[in-house]
Amino acid sequence: MIVLDDSSLIGCGTLRACYLHPQNGKLIIKVPLPDREGGEEANNHELLSYQKIRQHHEELDHISHCHGFTETDRGAGLICDCIRDCNGDIAKTIWDVVVYQETCDIEELLEVATTLCDYLIANDLFLFDINLKNIVLKRTEDNGYRAYAIDLKGPYDNKEFLQLSSRIKFLARKKLKRRSKQLLERIVQFREQRELLKKMDK
Ligand SMILES: Nc1ncnc2c1ncn2[C@@H]1O[C@H](COP(=O)(O)OP(=O)(O)O)[C@@H](O)[C@H]1O
Ligand SMILES: [Mg+2]
Repeated sequence: MIVLDDSSLIGCGTLRACYLHPQNGKLIIKVPLPDREGGEEANNHELLSYQKIRQHHEELDHISHCHGFTETDRGAGLICDCIRDCNGDIAKTIWDVVVYQETCDIEELLEVATTLCDYLIANDLFLFDINLKNIVLKRTEDNGYRAYAIDLKGPYDNKEFLQLSSRIKFLARKKLKRRSKQLLERIVQFREQRELLKKMDK
């Protein structure tokens, strides 16, 4: 069984905590947050979603790969690739850059996020949960960024009545385009409202 240490916590989402794998720096382990319900289900949904995506795509850019479950002292952990900058630092989320970083080139971020969204749309990767905390920005050798989706549970998290967009591709594409537009709008909005968001994030 893998023992996780508080010092290797990378970040927390709404349902899961993400730790660096203690034996392999190229991997992370997501475990359910102890005080929330649904973390285990989120891990199951993420793995299912990843496996479904892999059925149709041999190679995947812009996506953090999942490698199945492992037992940890904090519950069943989902192992995924750890996205790192070219200098080895763990990549920051768009949220971290937009809200917490003093300087940030919004035009560049919009371009990088657009490349990710176009890729998802072109490949029918219906990740509807593309918010600022679910995408990390890997620093590349040429001092640019490459965006990666790190939270893939979205397609199984469909709260719509009858879940039509999960069944009909045409509707799914429309929804993904709406979500992409929303992401770009939020990058601009959240930068403007960053002081307020920082206070609310505490
Ligand atoms: N593959 C990864 N590489 C680097 N950091 C990650 C990775 N996956 C998750 N994280 C970090 O963990 C946080 C929570 O992960 P996430 O999968 O979004 O959990 P939740 O389902 O609770 O929203 C992210 O916001 C990010 O900071
Ligand atoms: Mg998330």
